[in-house]
Amino acid sequence: MNRREFVKSMGAVAGVAAIHGFAFAKEGAKKMKCAVIYFSWSGNTRFAAETVAKKAGADLFEIKAEKPYNADFGKCCDEAKPECYGKTLRAIKPIEGLDLAKYDVVFVGTPNWWGTMAPPVRTWLTQNVAALKGKTMCLFQTHGGGGMQRVGKEFAEIVGDTAKVLAPKAFSGSSIKSSVAALEAFASERMSGK
Ligand SMILES: Cc1cc2nc3c(=O)[nH]c(=O)nc-3n(C[C@H](O)[C@H](O)[C@H](O)COP(=O)(O)O)c2cc1C
Repeated sequence: MNRREFVKSMGAVAGVAAIHGFAFAKEGAKKMKCAVIYFSWSGNTRFAAETVAKKAGADLFEIKAEKPYNADFGKCCDEAKPECYGKTLRAIKPIEGLDLAKYDVVFVGTPNWWGTMAPPVRTWLTQNVAALKGKTMCLFQTHGGGGMQRVGKEFAEIVGDTAKVLAPKAFSGSSIKSSVAALEAFASERMSGK
């Protein structure tokens, strides 16, 4: 093989490598910028969000209702029930410092309220559909025994046309503090695109 043939063959090898391996490695090496955005009334989803954010190296943001829900469980349920059944939008405060353009991956955390997402999360998603275009998104939810119910489906209905939606996951609220390993595994798997 003369020099010219050698150079040509190396070019071909490089091309194949770029297609099959190096291009992927380069993309894999790109640090995905991640945000975790959540609403929590009694703290379980906050704990889950903090754990996921820490594992994913993500920035953490909280959705807050303009008028907070009553601190009493029964009263909160009375307030939330018609909103959840009617899928109405509860007014929320602007999230300070959040610029969605900076993020590739957006995790969203909500408690299960009456089998659906908490209304402030619905509001935030609805208000930000355009800004979420092209993002990879993943829902996590904490619940009181009902599991995922309609929460994942509603999430996909709101952002499914604009974002790439990864598999959602539900965590038991009452055992959230002993679910650190599961939350970390969830964060790692979704960050690797699973
Ligand atoms: C208004 C309200 C409605 C709820 N509805 C449900 C429900 O339908 N199914 C369920 O499994 N848990 C339900 N729960 C329990 C919460 O989903 C659970 O405790 C969750 O972990 C709370 O998250 P947080 O601490 O972040 O607010 C409800 C709680 C509240 C306050």
